[in-house]
Amino acid sequence: MRGAGKSAAKTGIGNRILRAPAFAYCRSAASGPLSLFCEQTDLALLAERHGTPLYVYSSETIRARLRAFGKAFCSVPHTLCYSVKANSTLAILRLVAREKAGFDVVSGGEVERVLRVRPKGARIVFSGVGKTVPEMELALKSGILLFNVESASELRTLAATAARLRKKASIAIRVNPDVSAKTHPYISTGLHEHKFGVPIPEARTLYAAAAKHPNLNVAGVSVHIGSQITDVGSFKDALQRVAELVRELRGAGHDIRYVDAGGGLGISYLATQTPFAEKVAVYAKAVLEPLRKLNVHLLLEPGRSIVGPAGVLLTRVIYRKTNNSKRFLIVDAAMNDLLRPSLYGAHHEMVPVKRFRVAQRFNAAISRAIPVAALAT
Ligand SMILES: Cc1ncc(COP(=O)(O)O)c(C=O)c1O
Repeated sequence: MRGAGKSAAKTGIGNRILRAPAFAYCRSAASGPLSLFCEQTDLALLAERHGTPLYVYSSETIRARLRAFGKAFCSVPHTLCYSVKANSTLAILRLVAREKAGFDVVSGGEVERVLRVRPKGARIVFSGVGKTVPEMELALKSGILLFNVESASELRTLAATAARLRKKASIAIRVNPDVSAKTHPYISTGLHEHKFGVPIPEARTLYAAAAKHPNLNVAGVSVHIGSQITDVGSFKDALQRVAELVRELRGAGHDIRYVDAGGGLGISYLATQTPFAEKVAVYAKAVLEPLRKLNVHLLLEPGRSIVGPAGVLLTRVIYRKTNNSKRFLIVDAAMNDLLRPSLYGAHHEMVPVKRFRVAQRFNAAISRAIPVAALAT
């Protein structure tokens, strides 16, 4: 969001809890309560104006994170392809496009959304295990950069679709490197037991088959081992396997120009946060070391690490209840608004939007003022 409200003095109070710098408690009036601001705007005012539940995102944070990636990888040719599934709101896609980043998509719907903010598909990579023929057609017609192919049957279908449209599809095979991402099993994708990617021995066969097809252009190798990964050693292990494969494929005559390192960089939901620029620099080192001297164009597909810390979900407490001495606050947001806690036990920090002093809190309680809570997304 743009700074819309009056400027308010930021205070350090309440900032012990991790939070992107754009979210801070400020006092808009000298004697008033502290209120959580997003950039220059009081979240309580937004809740009043637009109602709750309400998602609010900081454009400043998204921009800063995209730029931190750009800086960390500036030593190599690269394209940042924001993973649209992380948040496909058009305003966010527009912001990403303005920052000159590309997009990683997993469905025809996502291709359509991206085309609404940038009519040419040249910076789109298409991932996902279940691409349908109409989705392939749409992507081929819009001239996307790369299909990350996930199976022999998908490769056959893509070849046939491209031939029918008289197009040439640039492809990478998404390999399954059999590396543990050391993250929650539901968001882990890089082990043999997972449905994602192709085991490396089978990938060799697919590259050989693709090279013979006139409507396929072998261009890269792709990998994505999971999400919310905090141990960068997993990225390094995966890319070491990818680098070995690139050398081998080039040795076999394939023109491998791209390595797509996927997404997955984790964010902090609990602990005190290391500045993002430092985190992404450590990540970049882990990714780049195995690729040294390979002279490839690197593609990156970050999602969560770009938008997660940039947003809050504003929700209002509507009831309080006690069941068998356990106290509950009933809010107007539910799992349809924030699925992750029930899906895989994700933790989301919850903080009050207004922080009253003790006397103010007492007055607010008797006037039945309803507190509004913000959850980091
Ligand atoms: C192929 C692919 N790329 C990128 C991402 C984005 O990952 P993250 O949001 O963890 O950065 C995902 C997420 O599931 C994915 O499946």
